[in-house]
Amino acid sequence: MNVLILNGSPRKKGSTSAALSKKLKRQLIGCSVEICHIISAPEQEMLEKLKTADSVVFVQPLYVDGMPSHVIDFLKKAEAFCKENGCKPKVYAVSNNGFIEGKQNAVHLEQFRCWCERAGAEWAGGIGVGGGEMLRVISWIYPCLILVNFAASLFYLTKGAELNLQLFSQMLQNIGVYAFFCWHFWLTFGALSYNIRKNRKAKKNRFTRVFVPAFLFIIFADIFMVISSLLKGRFVFALLGKCKK
Ligand SMILES: Cc1cc2nc3c(=O)[nH]c(=O)nc-3n(C[C@H](O)[C@H](O)[C@H](O)COP(=O)(O)O)c2cc1C
Repeated sequence: MNVLILNGSPRKKGSTSAALSKKLKRQLIGCSVEICHIISAPEQEMLEKLKTADSVVFVQPLYVDGMPSHVIDFLKKAEAFCKENGCKPKVYAVSNNGFIEGKQNAVHLEQFRCWCERAGAEWAGGIGVGGGEMLRVISWIYPCLILVNFAASLFYLTKGAELNLQLFSQMLQNIGVYAFFCWHFWLTFGALSYNIRKNRKAKKNRFTRVFVPAFLFIIFADIFMVISSLLKGRFVFALLGKCKK
C-alpha cells in the first residue's frame, strides 16, 4: 500500500510535525511510505504523488487555531488536481498544537474533512495531539536519560556493585515517568497507524495529549519558551560576543 505523508510545518528544523511524520513512517510496517515537506518539496511532484497514493496523511501543526497559510494554498491546488485526475485517496490527519488540550485541534481536523468533501477524497479520521512541542522534547530527553541511567548502572556493576533492582532504580523510575507522560499518545497514535496499515476508516476523530498536569505544563512551557526564544533570538550569544566597533 502506498502512503503519502504530508508534513505541513513551515519549520525546517526542530519541527514536531516532522518528528511525528518519522514516527508514523516507522510504524507503517509493510507499506511503501513517502514523506514530503509541503513548504519545500516541488509542488507538481507532490500533486502527481496523489495519483498513486492509497492513503494520504496530513501531519500538521495548529497555527492560530487553523492551518498555516502555505497549507491552505497547497490544499486549493490539490483540490483542483484531485477533481481533474479523479484521485480518491483515503485521507487521515494528525494535528498537533502547543497548548495542552488535544481537543483544540477539533476544528483543524474538521477543515480536512471538509476539504475531502470538496476534493472527492475519502475522509478516514484524524487525531489531535495536545502539548506537541513538549511531546517532541520529552521524546528525546527521556530516552537519553534512560540510556545514561543504564550506562551508569553497568558502570557500577563493573566496579563491583551487587546486581539487584536497586541498581537500576533510577532507570526504572525514568521509564515509568516517560510511560506515564506518553501512554495515551502511544495508544492513540498506534490506533491511527493500525487503521492506515489496514486501510480502514476510523469511527471518529480522537484526541490525546501529554499526560502532564496542566498547572505543571504551564510552568515548564513558560520556562521552555523563554529559554528557546532567548537562544533563537541569539540574545545570550550577543551578550557573550565581543562588542563590534
Ligand atoms: C504562528 C504560530 C501560531 C500558533 N498558534 C497556536 C494555536 O492557536 N494554538 C495552539 O495550541 N498552539 C499554537 N501554536 C503552537 C504550535 O501549534 C506548536 O508549537 C506545534 O507543536 C508546532 O508544530 P511544528 O513544530 O510542526 O510546526 C502556534 C505556533 C506558532 C508559531
